Amino acid sequence: MLLHANALRIYVFLAHRVETNLSKFDAVFVGLTTLDISGRPVSAIPEGGGVAFIEEIRLNPAGTAAGAVMNAAKLGIRCATVACVGQDEKGDFIADVYRRKGIDCSMLQRSQRSATSATILPIRPDGSRPALHARGASDDLFIADDQFDAVCDARFLHHGGTGLLKAMDQGQSARLLQHAKQSGLVTSFDLIAPNAHTRGMLDTLLPHVDYFMPSMEEAFFLSGTSSPADAARYFLDRGAGTCIFKWGAKGSYIQAKSETFHVPAFRVQVSDTCGCGDSYCGGFIAALVKGWGLRQACTLASAVSALVASGLGSDAGVVDFAETLAFMHSASILEA
Ligand SMILES: Nc1ncnc2c1ncn2[C@@H]1O[C@H](COP(=O)(O)OP(=O)(O)OP(=O)(O)O)[C@@H](O)[C@H]1O
Ligand SMILES: [Mg+2]
Repeated sequence: MLLHANALRIYVFLAHRVETNLSKFDAVFVGLTTLDISGRPVSAIPEGGGVAFIEEIRLNPAGTAAGAVMNAAKLGIRCATVACVGQDEKGDFIADVYRRKGIDCSMLQRSQRSATSATILPIRPDGSRPALHARGASDDLFIADDQFDAVCDARFLHHGGTGLLKAMDQGQSARLLQHAKQSGLVTSFDLIAPNAHTRGMLDTLLPHVDYFMPSMEEAFFLSGTSSPADAARYFLDRGAGTCIFKWGAKGSYIQAKSETFHVPAFRVQVSDTCGCGDSYCGGFIAALVKGWGLRQACTLASAVSALVASGLGSDAGVVDFAETLAFMHSASILEA
């Protein structure tokens, strides 16, 4: 009898632990959220008020957080967005696309004073993407301390867009990441358009970042070095857990405390490389949610971003997890 009572007590205790460890979301994606309006192929802007005919034009949610959450959601994980859009047609469009993708929008902010951040992208025939960006509501995103617990009701927190998040860039992003780490979440971090101010912020941000995921170009600029190993050492010394540098068609370079390796890019017919880096982050996090190891997660990320390069827009090409997996197992790799 006594044995049964003790067994029951242990069962109730363990059940409670399991229940309290269950988070509302697999991953929350915090940060830069824009509307991309892209067209391809564009070799030149017509003279004067002239017209040129192109093959396709697309609208899609994009940006360091949006490009990640869109693709992570397609891979089937439970996602939430924490972003700020305007009270305009661009914001409505983004919220509508998110809801249709099953992305939780309960923490989506609508700015009273700014239009949704947006970018016009005339994509060149080789897939490269000059950008015309209008800053907007992403600069108004602000997550107050009393919202941290709701934002961190997840296993993973991806923060993307430092550099174009004016209100969060004054120190609040570091506070949020610190709270996430203290609450037991795994954190990842990406940025955009870094400048001297961004460099100064890294000392407060990186100690709370498990996976630092800039592009190689950004890594070189921020570290003031010109080799991947030196750049990674610079960020690891400042507290980052692991560095994942996205390297365009050269793939990605990964340096953790105990291992360093390269993951090649997959070969695709390139349409537009917009959002390749953002989608890489989404694929990486989805793989971690599914329990994959570091190298496998970077390989899935590479597959996701290659698929994105094959279509117009930062979520193009990716359908779901099964198709991405099939692509990953069948596609050939690009030699670096
Ligand atoms: N031409 C390409 N072919 C195949 N894969 C590519 C190509 N370009 C990029 N990728 C994949 O996308 C990943 C991210 O691309 P990139 O290095 O351009 O990121 P980024 O500069 O952060 O991009 P973003 O503009 O989205 O911020 C690469 O690590 C690679 O796996
Ligand atoms: Mg990037």
